[in-house]
Amino acid sequence: MKIDGVAYRSVWLNPDDGWSVHIIDQTKLPWSLQVLRMTTRDEAAYAIKAMQARGAPLIGAVAAYGLCLALRADVSTEAMERDVALLNATRPTAVNLKWALDRMLTRLRNTPKPERVAVAYTEAMLIAEEDVKQNEAIGRHGLPLIEAFAKPGRTVNVLTHCNAGWLATVDWGTALAPIYTAYNAGIDLHVWVDETRPRNQGAALTAWELGKHGVPHTVVVDNAGGHLMQHGRVDLAIVGADRVTRSGDAANKIGTYLKALAAQDNNVPFWIAAPSSTIDWNVADGVAEIPIEERSETEVTEMTGRLADGSIATMRIAAEGSAAANPAFDVTPARLLTGLITERGRCPATETGLLKLFPERE
Ligand code: MRU
Repeated sequence: MKIDGVAYRSVWLNPDDGWSVHIIDQTKLPWSLQVLRMTTRDEAAYAIKAMQARGAPLIGAVAAYGLCLALRADVSTEAMERDVALLNATRPTAVNLKWALDRMLTRLRNTPKPERVAVAYTEAMLIAEEDVKQNEAIGRHGLPLIEAFAKPGRTVNVLTHCNAGWLATVDWGTALAPIYTAYNAGIDLHVWVDETRPRNQGAALTAWELGKHGVPHTVVVDNAGGHLMQHGRVDLAIVGADRVTRSGDAANKIGTYLKALAAQDNNVPFWIAAPSSTIDWNVADGVAEIPIEERSETEVTEMTGRLADGSIATMRIAAEGSAAANPAFDVTPARLLTGLITERGRCPATETGLLKLFPERE
C-alpha cells in the first residue's frame, strides 16, 4: 500500500545489506513515520512485545525474521529452539506467531547448520510473500459482500474495529483488504472506524492508513457502534482476528464481541476476515481455550496524544489510585458471525464450513 504515493510494506529486508530487518514503528503513528532497523533477536522480540510491530499476520512475519537474526548469532539447534521459545513468548493470543515459528522450525530442524541462515531467510520471505497474496485474495473474496450494498447514489457503510489493515499484515490487511479492493474498484464507500481503546489502533492506525489511501472514513468512540447500527447507518461489519478456532469462534481485539452482539440485534452482517495462518485447528472452544493477553494497567489509566505545540504527551485520565484491568482480546462465538472470509473463499463460521475450504484439515 502507498504512503503519500510511495509503496510500503510493513516489514522488509534492508536492500543495502540484505539481512537486517526494517519495520514501521507503529508506536510512533499517526504522528510520525519512523522506520526501525533491527539487527538482533532481542530487537525483534522487543518490537513484538512493545507493539512496534503488531497485528496477527505481521507478528508472525516479524518473528520469522527475528529467528533469522538469531541464527546469524548462533546456528546451533539448542540456540534455535531457545530463540523460538523466546520469540513465541512475546505475545500469547495471536496464533500466527506460533504458526510462523513452527513452520520455521520444521524447515530448519533438518537443515545442516552451515545452510540454516540462508534457508531461514528464504522461509521468512516466503511467509511474508504468502501473507501478501493471501490478504489480496481475502480482498477479492470480500469484495462481493460490499458490492451487494452498492447502488448508484448510495454510499456503502462498513464498520471495522481495531486495526486489521496493511499495517497489521505484510500488505493489504485482512478486514481492510475487501475495503481497499472495493475502493479501488470505484465503489462509493465509507468506513466507521472504532477508536479501539485502550491503545487506539483504530484512531491512530486504521484512520491513518485509510486516510493515506484516500478512503473516506470517520472515527467513532467504541460505544457508538450499536447506536449507528440501530439507525441503519452500518451496512456490514468486517473485522480481523487473532485466532479462529476450528469451530469458527474468533478472538479479536477487545470490544469485538460487543459489536457482534449489537450487529445480531440489528441484522447487520458481521464478518471475520482472516488468512489460514490465523486458524488454530487444535482449538474448538474459543472462550474456554484461547489465552487472552492481559496488558499493562497504564494503557487504560493513561493516554498519549499530540499537543497543540506538536509535542507528544502522555497523561493520566483515570482517578488517582484506581486499579485498572486490561484484557486485550475477547472471543466472539461463531453463532454471532455471519461468516469467515479467508484466502480460499467465504464460509459459514462452522467446522463444516471451514473444512469445505480446507479439506486437508479433516
Ligand atoms: O493487539 P494488537 O493490536 O496486535 O491486536 C491486533 C488485532 O486485534 C487486529 O486488529 C486484528 O484484528 C487481527 S490482525 C489483522
